[in-house]
Amino acid sequence: MSTVHKGKIDIVEVGPRDGFQSVKCAPITTEQKLALIDRLADAGVTHIEYTSFVSPKAIPQLADAADVTKAVLEKYPELDLFALVPNLRGAQNAYNLGLRKVCYVVSFSKSHNKANINRTHEQSLEAYKEIRAAFPDLDVTVDLATAFGCPFEGKYRDYDAVVAFLKDYAGAGMTTCCLCDTIGIADPAQVKELIARVKAAFPKVELGVHFHDTRGCGMVNSMAAVESGVTHIQAALGGLGGCPFAPGASGNLSTEDTVWMFNEMGYDTGVDFAKLVEAAKFQAREISGNYSGHQINIENPC
Ligand code: COA
Ligand code: ZN
Repeated sequence: MSTVHKGKIDIVEVGPRDGFQSVKCAPITTEQKLALIDRLADAGVTHIEYTSFVSPKAIPQLADAADVTKAVLEKYPELDLFALVPNLRGAQNAYNLGLRKVCYVVSFSKSHNKANINRTHEQSLEAYKEIRAAFPDLDVTVDLATAFGCPFEGKYRDYDAVVAFLKDYAGAGMTTCCLCDTIGIADPAQVKELIARVKAAFPKVELGVHFHDTRGCGMVNSMAAVESGVTHIQAALGGLGGCPFAPGASGNLSTEDTVWMFNEMGYDTGVDFAKLVEAAKFQAREISGNYSGHQINIENPC
């Protein structure tokens, strides 16, 4: 049967940031992180959120952000590499190292924004404006955490409120936005509805999605996003991940499961599935000590 080509999907690997931040078994060395990024690049993954510039007290596993940045920017100038920042200081640190793309995290939930970055909505918006003003050539994606629901406030159905929230960011120059299901509470109908509303309100803003798999809906939610015209799909190798400040959240959608599904369906991810599984096995063996994706148990990935 010939493969039907359905278009390109940008698989965005967030494991080195979202995955590693919550690995508790042992400190992950810079060398281990770089070895994993090598394997991801070798598998054809070109979009990688590789660290975050946050307080090392909040996220000790990513305290080596500067070293990782220097190494990856030198080795992989052609890749789409970016890091999470929570404030002007993080953006400044990233910029000074030569990074020109970050995602700025703000949570739609007031209580999660406070728990995660200790800021009010007003303070977060102010900091976003400061970053835009200080670094006009920095590509800043707005990562809207808890866009679908919050560990403290529950699930959201008020799509108008999300759109109203984003209006201030659009007014301040937002060009890209990632809708993040921080706690894995979204369902496909909600995904379609929120994307439709956000697209209608901000037609020029490029959208991405980021799903956690707490309720096993990561794949169907990604599919719903693709059917809604969003082709920037975030996932984490081995299904690692989870915000340490969102109680009960589980790992991300696993990259290898995601790639397998889209490749099988005839989408062009550009990712070599067998090599990706090898990267996942390496990670499980050398770094995380566990594995929550499915493909690793398949000896013959063909
Ligand atoms: N990078 C490194 N260190 C930073 C920093 C940054 N971007 N921003 C602040 N700090 C340091 C300060 O220097 C200070 O250090 P000190 O205690 O040694 O003096 C400490 O962090 C606290 O700074 P303050 O400005 O008072 O921040 P805070 O205590 O209100 O915390 C954040 C705010 C954003 C720094 C912190 O909550 C954080 O890093 N959160 C990360 C959340 C995260 O990554 N979540 C998962 C991803 S969604
Ligand atoms: Zn996440």
